[in-house]
Amino acid sequence: MHPSDHDRVRALRWTGAGLEILDQRRLPDRTEYRLCTTAAEVADAIATMQVRGAPAIGIAAAYGVALAVRRYHREDPGRWREAVEADIDRLSRSRPTAVNLFWALDRMRRVVRSAPSDPVTAALAEARAIHAEDVAANRRMGELGADRIGTVTGVLTHCNTGSLATGGFGTALGVIRTLWRRHPGFAVHATETRPWNQGARLTLWELEQDAIPATLIADHAAAFLMQRGKVQWVVVGADRIAANGDTANKIGTYALAVAARRHGVGFMVVAPTSTVDWHTPDGSRIPIEERGAEELLPPYYRHRDGRVNAWNPVFDVTPAALIDVIVTEKGTVHLERETLDKLRP
Ligand code: MRU
Repeated sequence: MHPSDHDRVRALRWTGAGLEILDQRRLPDRTEYRLCTTAAEVADAIATMQVRGAPAIGIAAAYGVALAVRRYHREDPGRWREAVEADIDRLSRSRPTAVNLFWALDRMRRVVRSAPSDPVTAALAEARAIHAEDVAANRRMGELGADRIGTVTGVLTHCNTGSLATGGFGTALGVIRTLWRRHPGFAVHATETRPWNQGARLTLWELEQDAIPATLIADHAAAFLMQRGKVQWVVVGADRIAANGDTANKIGTYALAVAARRHGVGFMVVAPTSTVDWHTPDGSRIPIEERGAEELLPPYYRHRDGRVNAWNPVFDVTPAALIDVIVTEKGTVHLERETLDKLRP
């Protein structure tokens, strides 16, 4: 890694023993890696938010399949495939919205079904390739996004889209890193991102590790920040982009896009093409995860037998019409004058 890369953190580390996952629930207070040696452990780590962020979820799941192949092939070289397929199903149930999960599992399933002569090596090689391709895509998107933005005095980002959310470098945060390398000194604002506080706990910490100064704002301060003329671009990631450009991302993204349009602020989505779901025509068909009320309710209300409730959708859908540009590793799409079709495989 080049010292000017501003990228020191890693969410996932493959060791010979298994997959080490940085437990993001504990950040920023504790930096603890947990070793997963089975697909079930990886599925649990995804469901419980130890690892999160669309690309990182996909990569973790791919390593989970590699672990399953290693285990079941050793146990029974004649009948390992059925057990691996069951673990792929288990991994696919860990979270519903980030399409990178299903994209990565499809790639792994193809390797498993292709009858390789050495399945253990082939599965691990595919997981490693998914990981490496993600880092390369992020670096490319960083350049393309920074080209589009040029110079700024302030940007705003939402949730965490950095090395913690990906194989490394990040999507939206990768663009911010690249901009910083080119023209340091602009203001980086990060939303708190309730209720999990990915912005406050993760983005601020990650940027601190990499010596990029950032300013935290409460989610509700974003529109006021724009009204004050403090940002020229909102830069966010995505969990699933429908074929028409409608984009599911962390809850609150839609409100940021509405406010950005009202204030003439650019709105950029940065995501690898593994986040584009060509089978989903528009945002109304994207499954939106709703997590438990207990994640939102203050402790006082938690055991009230449903008398006090909470609605906790953790993603929302921003219509393509509110997005200025989508940056992928295959190119930048200016939604005002072109469609995602130019990226179709
Ligand atoms: O619930 P999370 O933390 O997994 O949500 C993450 C996001 O919404 C990110 O913005 C998205 O996955 C893109 S990460 C590069």
